[in-house]
Order: sequence, then structure tokens, then C-alpha cells
Amino acid sequence: MAVYGTGALDMYNTKKEKVLFSITEKNDQGRSFYEVDNGLPITQQEQLHHYLREADKDTICVPSTRSMRIVTDPFNYTHEDQVLPIQPEQLFFMDYTSKKDLENTDVLDIGLGSGVLSIFSLLNGAASCVGLDINSRAKMLAGYNAVINNIDKNFHIKDGDAADIFRSVDGKKFGFICSNPPFEPTPPGIDYYVNSAAGIYGLDFVDDILANVDRHLLDDGLLQLVTMAPGNAKKPFKLYESIEKYLPGCSVEIVLDLQPILYADFVDRFKNIFGHDDELINHMKKTASDDGVTHLHMLILKYKKGRHGRITEINAQKVYETWSTPLGV
Ligand SMILES: C[S@@+](CC[C@H](N)C(=O)[O-])C[C@H]1O[C@@H](n2cnc3c(N)ncnc32)[C@H](O)[C@@H]1O
Repeated sequence: MAVYGTGALDMYNTKKEKVLFSITEKNDQGRSFYEVDNGLPITQQEQLHHYLREADKDTICVPSTRSMRIVTDPFNYTHEDQVLPIQPEQLFFMDYTSKKDLENTDVLDIGLGSGVLSIFSLLNGAASCVGLDINSRAKMLAGYNAVINNIDKNFHIKDGDAADIFRSVDGKKFGFICSNPPFEPTPPGIDYYVNSAAGIYGLDFVDDILANVDRHLLDDGLLQLVTMAPGNAKKPFKLYESIEKYLPGCSVEIVLDLQPILYADFVDRFKNIFGHDDELINHMKKTASDDGVTHLHMLILKYKKGRHGRITEINAQKVYETWSTPLGV
């Protein structure tokens, strides 16, 4: 097993196939949204060369705000240092990001992975970005992705820290902090993807961000997360308990995906796909049932520092997470 407590993660086989995603901003009746046009194995060099030639046509170093190319690991890369492929959650994040919030802003991206959210921010008006990750593969691919997207702004890729998420940016403040954090409910004590493991409710990482974010936001700065959170069929009440605990009396806006899934179905994947112990999974289900947790909601959370109020909810305009259709290979 690789060690990732100290900010480093040994890399597994880097020759393993990677996937190139092409993500484009589309317009429909005045509303813009993002779509994955393609998710192809990188060895289909024809395609890669085509994309790079297209980029060159716009003249080198003029970044495109309308489309991005992102290389990740494939879905079937099974080591714990997998660099997360593009999924509906990143598109959800992009669709609900206001370009005004990014304009001339210094961004912090916690858990940058392939760098997709950092690069999106830099292409859409951010002045600079610091991206943190504990996964060496992620830092390497994020750098590569910055190059193929012609990023010509300051993009600092720094070590994350498993014990203290904000350690690398101690004393620094940002106008926009974003994260697609590890958020999967994960059985205790198993080796699992670093990109996803987050305690039995999937809330451990989010709690840590909420508890510490005020120290790193400028006055009026914005925290924007895309995450999954536990609750009942109607709302992710466990997340709301965390918000009330760490940001009491604050105004927080939630955009709920339209299709929550059953907690029990989600954790059964650990038995069915990964062959984990019945007892472990049943214990998770029993804890959830005792706490009234039945569902998991994909959502966007927006918190503006210093703004008082309450938690408000709106529904997304479409279903993002269908839970059955990977977008790439
Ligand atoms: C759900 S993935 C999201 C990656 C990328 N932002 C995206 O949207 O595709 C979460 C990322 O957080 C990273 N991570 C886990 N623990 C971390 C920590 N303590 N500090 C920084 N990054 C961490 C993982 O390695 C992974 O790349």
C-alpha cells in the first residue's frame, strides 16, 4: 500500500492507459451548460493530435474559455491513486459557477485531481490558482493538463496534507475556494481510492473544510463545493447539521441534484464490486438507519463569508448524477 499521510503518494504504473476528455460549453435557449464531447483512450493519438492542432490554430497560448481538454486515469484504473475521470459532478460545478465570482480572483482548489476545476477557473477569469493534492499522479497530470490547455497564468500545484488540509496555504486568503472533495461513504479500515474515501457518511473532508474555511476566505470571498451528502429522501440533513455546527447563522445556498440515491444501495457497492465484508457494510447501514439517513444527495454548496442568514435550497435544472453511465472509457 502507498503512504499518503505526509503529502506524498507513491505512484503506481504510470504507463497504464489514460483518457482524454473534451469538455465544451454549450448554449440552449440562453442558458449555458457544459458537456463532455468525448472520453477517449489517449493512445488514440489521432484524436489527441487533432485536439492539439485545433488548439494551435487559435494561436498558442491563447486559452479557450469554451472548451477544455483534460487527461485522467480511466474508470477501470483500480489503484488507490486513481486520478478521477470526468464525471457529472464536475459539469454540475461548472454549470453553477458564476463567471463574476471568478473574475480577477485568486482561487484555491482543494483536491485538484486532474486540475479540471483549477483550469476551468483560470480559463474563466480567475487571476491565479493554487491547487492542492496529496496524490503525486494527480499533481503530475494537473500540470500536464495546464500545458495542453495553454494556461498562461500563475497556477501553483502544491502538496496537500492528509492531517491538515490547509497546511500548504497557512496564512493565505483567497477570493474563491472550490473543491470537489472526497465524498463517498466508505467503510472504515479499507484501502480505497484517495479521491473518494471520506468516512462512513462521506462527510469527513467537507466537515474539515467548513470548520476552517473562514480563515482562508477574503471578506466576501466565496466557498463553492460540489459534493454528495447524506440525509433523507428530501434533504441532506446531515450536511445541514455540519453547516449549523461550523458556520452557525450563516447564509448557505444549496443546489440539489434531482435524483438522490439510496444510502444502502451505494454502500452495497463495496460488497458487490469490491468484495468487502458483509459485516462491515451491514454495520454502516445499521448506523445510517439509526440516524435516519436513507439517501445521498449530489449538490452544490455556496457560502459567502460574512453573509448572515440561513440555509436555502433550490433544485438543479436537470439530473446530473444518473449513477449508471460513466462519461468516458
Ligand atoms: C473527488 S476528487 C476531485 C478531483 C478533481 N477536483 C475533480 O473534480 O476531478 C478529490 C481529490 O482530493 C484529493 N485529496 C484527498 N485528500 C486530500 C488532502 N488531504 N489534501 C488535498 N487533496 C486531497 C484526492 O487525491 C483527489 O484528487
